[in-house]
Amino acid sequence: MNNIHPIFDKLLTKSDKELFLNQRGIVLWFTGLSGSGKSTIAEGLEKLLFSKGYFVQVLDGDNTRTGINKNLGFSIKDREENIRRVAEISKLFIDSGVICINSFVSPTIEIRQKAKDIIGSENFIEVFVNTPLEVCEARDVKGLYKKARAGEIKGFTGIDSPFESPLKADVELLTANQTVEESIHDVFNKVIKRLSL
Ligand code: ADX
Repeated sequence: MNNIHPIFDKLLTKSDKELFLNQRGIVLWFTGLSGSGKSTIAEGLEKLLFSKGYFVQVLDGDNTRTGINKNLGFSIKDREENIRRVAEISKLFIDSGVICINSFVSPTIEIRQKAKDIIGSENFIEVFVNTPLEVCEARDVKGLYKKARAGEIKGFTGIDSPFESPLKADVELLTANQTVEESIHDVFNKVIKRLSL
């Protein structure tokens, strides 16, 4: 074919796809305790961005631990593998120009650093959903804290498995002081420049 448009006459790059989508392919990495509100805020942000013309994919435990990562549990080794695979998947998404919002406990500084190394620091925005353990435990949306306290679940983050807060997240959401809507707009305002060409 010799009448093909020049842009299609070579392997398409990340920038070709970013131009097509009119956005930057980048990862927003949400970290925080179970029940901190990560996924609720991530989903709200996805809708807000989508309504403004951005093309977004949310990855979280619900859509990865039920499928590609369903052979993994919650030992530190399995969490590392969980996050490694998620980081590799999101790298593929961002190479297609997609904005990827990843919502994972990702409990240690080392685990998050490994994700950042895979994705590339220039494509990685860390969002710390900072909700105190007492608040997460009081909400106990899935009833898991109660089970962890009763010893029915072992190695639960914040109870008998560590959570290390980021030392300097790009964005920190103090959710105990704001509504979900406020958190969504807060993170939106802080990241929007980096999502735009
Ligand atoms: S991560 O540590 O590997 O990043 P991930 O975000 O995928 O964790 O999954 C966390 C979710 O799994 C929690 O929100 C909770 O619903 C559930 N879960 C089940 N067991 C545990 C556990 N031992 N520790 C933390 N979360 C758990």
